[in-house]
Amino acid sequence: MTITELRIDGIRNLRDIDMYPMAGTNIIYGDNAQGKTNLLEAIFIMSGQKSFRGARDKELLGFGRQSGKIELRYCDSVRSQTISLELGKTPKDKRLFKNGVPLKSASELIGSLYTVVFTPEDLQLTRGSPEVRRSFLDRTISLIHPMYSRILAKYDKILEQRNAALKVMDKKSLNEGQLDIWDEQLSRMGAYMSVFRAVSVSKLQEAAGSMYKRLSGEKEELKISYYSTVFDKIPSELEVKDGKLMALDYHKRLLSSRKEDLRLGYTQLGVHRDDLIIELDGLSVKDYGSQGQNRSCALCLKLAEAELIKKEKKEFPVILLDDVMSELDSDRRFFVKRAIEGAQIFITCCDEPKAKRGCHLMSGGRLKRDF
Ligand SMILES: Nc1ncnc2c1ncn2[C@@H]1O[C@H](COP(=O)(O)OP(=O)(O)OP(=O)(O)O)[C@@H](O)[C@H]1O
Ligand SMILES: [Mg+2]
Repeated sequence: MTITELRIDGIRNLRDIDMYPMAGTNIIYGDNAQGKTNLLEAIFIMSGQKSFRGARDKELLGFGRQSGKIELRYCDSVRSQTISLELGKTPKDKRLFKNGVPLKSASELIGSLYTVVFTPEDLQLTRGSPEVRRSFLDRTISLIHPMYSRILAKYDKILEQRNAALKVMDKKSLNEGQLDIWDEQLSRMGAYMSVFRAVSVSKLQEAAGSMYKRLSGEKEELKISYYSTVFDKIPSELEVKDGKLMALDYHKRLLSSRKEDLRLGYTQLGVHRDDLIIELDGLSVKDYGSQGQNRSCALCLKLAEAELIKKEKKEFPVILLDDVMSELDSDRRFFVKRAIEGAQIFITCCDEPKAKRGCHLMSGGRLKRDF
């Protein structure tokens, strides 16, 4: 997948960007706070995902601007397409188009442009909280299966309502009938998500495992597994004959912890508490791994994400590397370069690169030079 034209104006500090990126590597360099990450963020949100910095639309609109716009033309192996986003002062000013046709929401963009972003924070994937790993997993699955992101959004909404009800101090006023309805819905969605996660983790394990082998010179073995707070063992996709049975099991587990949930005031079990277990030669890398081993595992997981998209969608995603190369030693830099060879890449850095081709200087939100 290749972005061939990119126009941005009024998004963050970006102004009058009119870029014709190269099919290979594009380097955006410049001093701090010039807008390099903003440019990658703008590309990223055009793939239908929420900003990797957690920004909402109102934060994306340039200060003092009435409107902002991102227009992008990309081609996949079949054809060339355009997508555009317009933002205004209020949510109702937001407009999205694909090939000139209006879309209802950003999630409808999923399945158009595929991007994988890599930031220095991603190097914390193994050591960070379970939430970091869950959201990594959820993002990856959502890109490949847009339906999953819709189910996840619904799950989160109902969970929020359930937790709000559990927090009610006067438990007598709690409507247990309402809890039954929520539990039934959470069980159906949670069981569905558990299967998707388990299947995706085994695919990620395959890709990341073989990458780690190469990176470590066949010395260590990486294993990623899915930790479910609900199921001891999740049947594989093929073994799930009856999703209803899984939902029933899920429901039973929710019921078994309801009393405790009421006491604590939140839902203890469910896909919102799951995690990824990352081990090197059978030892938790989070608890026992060195800093370098943790970085290598995180690196392989992110590269596996790109590999998975490539495999499932038959398209190499556009790779966005935000300041990450400077964080890596030369062996790992070389490894990353090899792993993403063939993809269109946008790299940000502070120093002026030696090569000039595909290099752009970013200054005050504008691209100054285009070799
Ligand atoms: N909505 C907005 N409107 C205008 N400017 C914004 C907006 N949001 C952020 N900025 C500005 O964008 C600048 C940061 O841009 P960005 O994070 O892209 O910098 P950078 O070039 O990646 O810097 P670094 O090298 O430090 O990572 C900040 O100066 C910030 O004030
Ligand atoms: Mg930056």
